[in-house]
Amino acid sequence: MTMAEFKRHRRLRTSANMRALVRETEVTVDDLIYPVFVVEGENVRNEVSSMPGVFQLSLDNLSAEMKEVSELGIKSVLFFGIPAEKDEVGTGAFHDHGIVQRAISQTKEEFPELLLIADTCLCEYTSHGHCGIVHDGIIDNDESLGYLVDTAVSQAKAGADIIAPSNMMDGYVQAIRKGLDEAGFTNIPIMAYSVKYASAFYGPFREAADGAPQFGDRKTYQMDPSNRREALREATSDIEEDADFLIVKPALAYLDIIRDVRNQFNAPIVAYNVSGEYSMVKAAALNGWIDEKAIVMEKMIGMKRAGADLIMTYFAKDVARWLKEDN
Ligand code: PBG
Repeated sequence: MTMAEFKRHRRLRTSANMRALVRETEVTVDDLIYPVFVVEGENVRNEVSSMPGVFQLSLDNLSAEMKEVSELGIKSVLFFGIPAEKDEVGTGAFHDHGIVQRAISQTKEEFPELLLIADTCLCEYTSHGHCGIVHDGIIDNDESLGYLVDTAVSQAKAGADIIAPSNMMDGYVQAIRKGLDEAGFTNIPIMAYSVKYASAFYGPFREAADGAPQFGDRKTYQMDPSNRREALREATSDIEEDADFLIVKPALAYLDIIRDVRNQFNAPIVAYNVSGEYSMVKAAALNGWIDEKAIVMEKMIGMKRAGADLIMTYFAKDVARWLKEDN
């Protein structure tokens, strides 16, 4: 027997079955969380111009969408609401008959098995478009917490299965956990947007959810994209405050952060494949410049390989369909 002079890696790539045998990472429909935008009004189905294929839906059009989602085997949806009116404190966010609260109770009744995740934030509901309460141009951390607790509790009362706070105030997990427990919702998990960067990739979402800040930016509460260790400080405090899931957001320019968080924590890790990441792929695909399915699936694998357990993505329906086609 002659000694090989080099290692023949190609032996494990000789056929589709051989490649399947040694495949390390897989994406399944169970990994997907589909974000949905619900809006006041009747018979509304507004396509978001910067997000082709994504719609703002009124409640009468929501059922058909939820039916499609559940028929595709997707198990969880994330609700964002666009209220009819905005005010200084974001009353629409914690109103018992708020748009998200009604969307949740309607969907819970129609599709009881679907897991309903409520985004807990104020920016779509405040006139100034910030994620907390503003005084003299400053976002007041501690005053915001009470409003966020009210929002989370009203969402849980409406039937939300998971609370996902995206506001980036300090102490929000502790405050919301306490509020939920006191209201009797000890079994409702918190999916915390623990590591959320101040990112230009949210641009199209702000059109979709009508939630752009009317002055300044979000850099006093969302993280500086330059910082890696700070991600671990944010995740550590959220875990100490009893967060059940950790979200890293955005995903694709932050795969190193997903890996760091995965290595450091045992909680389920969620990658938020955000609006800008969706729009860029869509634009190139609509121009015929890329193979959309191949590109999207490669990105999904990338997020999972980096360490994500779950992926929030506007491509969820497409991915579910493609997974079905290929089986
Ligand atoms: C609200 C919120 C935002 C996103 C999710 N929740 C916008 C922001 O923080 O400015 C972005 C999601 C996306 O871009 O897909 N705080």
